[in-house]
Amino acid sequence: MVRVIGFLVGLGFVVVLGYSLIVGASAYLSDPPEETVEHEFHHHPKQVSFASDGPFGRFDRAQLQRGYRVYEEVCAVCHSLRYVAFRNLQALEFSEAEVDALAAQWQIPDINPETGEAEMREGIASDYFPSPYANDAAARAANNNAIPPDLSLIAKARHDGAAYVYSLLTGYEDPPAELPEANRPGPGLYYNPYFPNLNLAMMPPLTADGQVTYDDGTEATVEQMAKDVSAFLIWTAEPKLEARKSTGWAVLIFLAFATVLAFLAKRNVWRDQKH
Ligand code: HEC
Repeated sequence: MVRVIGFLVGLGFVVVLGYSLIVGASAYLSDPPEETVEHEFHHHPKQVSFASDGPFGRFDRAQLQRGYRVYEEVCAVCHSLRYVAFRNLQALEFSEAEVDALAAQWQIPDINPETGEAEMREGIASDYFPSPYANDAAARAANNNAIPPDLSLIAKARHDGAAYVYSLLTGYEDPPAELPEANRPGPGLYYNPYFPNLNLAMMPPLTADGQVTYDDGTEATVEQMAKDVSAFLIWTAEPKLEARKSTGWAVLIFLAFATVLAFLAKRNVWRDQKH
C-alpha cells in the first residue's frame, strides 16, 4: 500500500514537472525573448594579458608601481581604495621610507586629540586610502548623480575584472550611427560599449599620452597606463594571489605523491590474495 502511494506521489511530481517543461518550452519557441539594444551593442572585454595570469602567474612589481602612479594621479580624484593601507604598498617593493613619503602626500580626515575638532592631517603608513568625498551625497553631487565605486575589489566584482577595467578605460568611442535615440548618451554621460548599459557617468579619465609621469622610463601611452592601473587593481583585489598559486602547486604535488603511496600500500596489503 505504502509503495503504491509512494509511486503515485512520484508520478504526480513527474506529471507536474513535465507539464511545466512543455509549457515553458512552447512559450519560449512561440514568443522568443527580444534581444535588448544594450545586448546588441555591448562588447565583451578586449583580450589582454597580465603577468599574474595563469597557474604560474606572478606580479610584475614595476608594473604595479606604475599602476599605483596612475591611480594616485588620476583615479584617486574620484575613486577611493578603502581596503588598502599605505603600508601595504611595501608589497610593491616600495621601501619603508618611500611608503612614508607617499603616505605623507595624502590628507586624512581625523579628529584633533587636543581640541576634539575635525581636522585634516598628513597620512602615515598605517592609514587607509581616504575617500575623495565626505559621503555618498557629495560623491553623487560631483558626478552627475553616479557614485564612483570603491576600486579595492573591482577586479573581483566584475566579470573578467582586469580586462574589463582595461577595456572600459580604452573603450570610449562615438556612439554608432545606428544606435537608437533612447540609448544615446544624455548630458554628463559618455558612450562606452564595454559598460553594460552603454552609457557611463565617468568621463574618459585617460585621455593623453604622458598624462602620468613614469620614473622607470616606460612610455606612458594611454594603453600602457590603462594596463598598468588594471594590473594594480588585480593586486588590490587579491594581494595574496602569488601565495595562493604556489600553495596550489604544493598541494597538487603532495596529492600526486600521496596517490602513489596509497597505490603501493594497496598492492602491499592485497599481495597474498589470489585473484
Ligand atoms: C572625474 C571622476 C572620475 C575619475 C577621474 C575616474 N572615475 Fe571611474 N568612475 C567615475 C564615476 C562617476 C563612475 C560611475 C559610473 C556610472 O555608474 O555610470 C565610475 C566608474 C568606474 C568603474 C566601474 C564601472 C562599473 O562597471 O561599474 C571603474 C572600473 C572605474 N570607474 C575605474 C576608474 C579608473 C581605473 C580610473 C583612473 C584611471 C577612474 N575610474 C577615474 C568617476 C571617475
